[in-house]
Amino acid sequence: MPFHLRLRRPGTRKAGAAALTVGLALLLAACGQNHPDSIFHQRTDFNRDVDYLFKILIWAGTAVFIFVEGILVWTLVKYRHRPGRPEPEHVHGNTTLEIMWTVIPLFILILIGIPTVKTIFKTQAKARGDALQVEVIGHQWWWEFRYPQYNVVTANELYLPLGRTVNFTLRTQDVIHSFWVPALAGKRDLVSNHTNYLWYTPDSTTASAFNGACVEYCGASHANMRFKTFTVSLADFESWAAHQAEAAVGAAVAPQPAPPTGTQPAPPAGAQASPSKPPAAPATQVAQAPAPVTPVVQAGFVAFPREQMPPHTVPQTPLPANLAFDDNLLGKGDASNGAKLMVSQGGCLGCHGIKGNPMMVGVIGPNLTHIATRTTIAAGLFPNDPRHLARWIKNAPEMKPGVAMPTLGAGEYDPVRKMKSPMNLTDQQIADIVAYLQTLK
Ligand code: CUA
Repeated sequence: MPFHLRLRRPGTRKAGAAALTVGLALLLAACGQNHPDSIFHQRTDFNRDVDYLFKILIWAGTAVFIFVEGILVWTLVKYRHRPGRPEPEHVHGNTTLEIMWTVIPLFILILIGIPTVKTIFKTQAKARGDALQVEVIGHQWWWEFRYPQYNVVTANELYLPLGRTVNFTLRTQDVIHSFWVPALAGKRDLVSNHTNYLWYTPDSTTASAFNGACVEYCGASHANMRFKTFTVSLADFESWAAHQAEAAVGAAVAPQPAPPTGTQPAPPAGAQASPSKPPAAPATQVAQAPAPVTPVVQAGFVAFPREQMPPHTVPQTPLPANLAFDDNLLGKGDASNGAKLMVSQGGCLGCHGIKGNPMMVGVIGPNLTHIATRTTIAAGLFPNDPRHLARWIKNAPEMKPGVAMPTLGAGEYDPVRKMKSPMNLTDQQIADIVAYLQTLK
């Protein structure tokens, strides 16, 4: 008696078809959505080259799939079992067929291979000589960005001019990380004791903000090692870089008492640019305080406007529920006292640098020279505002697992060092430090 195996009952088949329909509908719905961080945006030469390659592969692959599956389905239907039919003829060896299925794949491989090798050589080649140089240094868990041509050192926020090729020099301070701005180009690793390079040219005509991330597992806060990339016009970039290269106006606030109000009227607009001598001081005026820090760029672009940031680039990380701070103190802090606390009780000078503040020369942590111009703190994890900044200073390890920044708040428990913090900053003192940091525009 012939044995017929029924693979599925009719009910199962219907359920399977329904599941497939729902699955396809969901997939199509997902494809139709706006994916701002997708790699398929055409915003750089790099992404266009990869997209061209991707299209060749996907179309060639689709053609092969349809051809092979077509033959399979045709064979299944034509030679299916029917009652009373003899078994189809079994074929052994067919020279014409064998030559065909060797030669056709060979042509397909050549078709794919030529543009692939071309793209590899192009993207691995050296960048053009006049490229903007950006040194990317990975740290557990934050990004250092250096612009040697502009004497700028910053952290976690990358500014790129539209239409100018940028050449990234990728290095790491500790373990392997990987640098990726999906909407702009492919990823590339930061490898210990080795330098990698990556270059591309942002070609979009609209300035925008993009998410970047570390994409090589690097420890407890790998997922919290993010950064922002801003593409801005060439003029705005030059203005930003000139501003970043200078000390922030408020950097050296600590030792200078404010002059009594009313004795010294502000110079009229444009007076600073005038080559003529400044107006003579009134005879009654007492001895001048030492010359203030040279004012930086007064007008022009200094930071990407926060209100123009696309919503998906604004971090939504919730604050830990058990980390309390008296928010009433914020906005009333004493910036001058905050600057002093950073070099005394806070111990911030051990890790952080602030250009224009001779005491703040640390290099282990992110450079804070223009921290108030940044949109995020903690490597893209939280928005940069007094509320988050205060809690970050009070107990950073509570907000970011494994972070090197110690707990500074009085009586707080440090979950990284597994002990009660030896530091003892009060909420008022933290509010003072926040006030100082807010002046570093
Ligand atoms: Cu750095 Cu993952």
